[in-house]
Amino acid sequence: MEKDTFILGIETSCDETAAAVVKNGRTICSNIISSQIPVHRKFGGVVPEVASRHHTEQITYVVDLALKEAEISLEELSGIAVTAGPGLVGALLVGLQYAKGLSFALNKPLLAVNHIHGHISANYLAHPDLVPPFVSLVVSGGHTFIVRVRSYKDFQVVAQTRDDAVGEAFDKVARALGLPYPGGPQIDRLAKEGCEDAIAFARPKFSEQTLDFSFSGIKSGVLNYLNSAKLKEEPVNAADVAASFQKAVVENLLDHLFQAARQEGAVRIAVAGGVASNSYLRDKLSRRGAQEGIEILVPPPILCTDNAAMIACAGTHLFWAKEESPLSVNASPSLGLNDPLGH
Ligand code: KG4
Ligand code: ZN
Repeated sequence: MEKDTFILGIETSCDETAAAVVKNGRTICSNIISSQIPVHRKFGGVVPEVASRHHTEQITYVVDLALKEAEISLEELSGIAVTAGPGLVGALLVGLQYAKGLSFALNKPLLAVNHIHGHISANYLAHPDLVPPFVSLVVSGGHTFIVRVRSYKDFQVVAQTRDDAVGEAFDKVARALGLPYPGGPQIDRLAKEGCEDAIAFARPKFSEQTLDFSFSGIKSGVLNYLNSAKLKEEPVNAADVAASFQKAVVENLLDHLFQAARQEGAVRIAVAGGVASNSYLRDKLSRRGAQEGIEILVPPPILCTDNAAMIACAGTHLFWAKEESPLSVNASPSLGLNDPLGH
């Protein structure tokens, strides 16, 4: 019988300090997340220096708790997976240095993981029967991609945003509406009380045929609408603005996604990233999927936003491929989907 693989995952790329233990790339033994959201809320967004300091304070506690909940000792682990990029450099370094220390002290493989690969891999934890190939939509605070997933380690960009990431647009619009950070969940909630057809925000148009996205135009449309109402001293119905903005963004996302899926001959689409927890997006995706005969897979919200179980899962496939990283591996704040990490 094959020996089980237990990977400890560590994630500190932004404002969650997270650690998790995953068995055989599929079963979550523990998934601990210490969120800094309340700390950053008073600043209206993530303050990188503050994030690094909080990761430093939390990491030991979070890793200990992940091991305790999984009822596993450090010696029983097969390897240590850690996010090496993309993300905030100071925040990444905390997790990376901690993982290097463990790897060195325990003499266990260090597995440097691309955060975006991690988000996509969350689907293997949520959907035990999912195997590549499939098409993935990655929608997070920093990234918007349609990805062709050819194997557990082969990811190709089909389309991406040319300006704002979709979560970034949600957060900026929420801020303009006076809603607290992070704005995405606030827009999601407020939009339920508004009319999605109240305001027709213009959709992006490219001169060439492309599946790429642009969200800064829709975001600017909202900001202009709010400024103009302010100048004319007209009242604004924030719920209508939220609902109309959300509709414009989601329709745009889905038009491109389903066009890409048809082009790729995809039979299933796995969605990933923090914005995948948006209830309107989830609803529209499942309806459109049913119409087009394409299976839609979306992880539960806890596996959509940043977590370490997804990093442990992606790290398991590096472990099985014997692609361990040297202790010299550095944090890569602007790591692309296919950039090497020195495995
Ligand atoms: O994946 P994630 O946790 O971190 C990054 O890798 O960026 O995504 C965070 C983003 C934030 O922009 C947040 O506002 C957005 O996901 N988000 C949402 C929802 N929940 C989180 N956006 C829209 N609706 C939501 N329910
Ligand atoms: Zn993320």
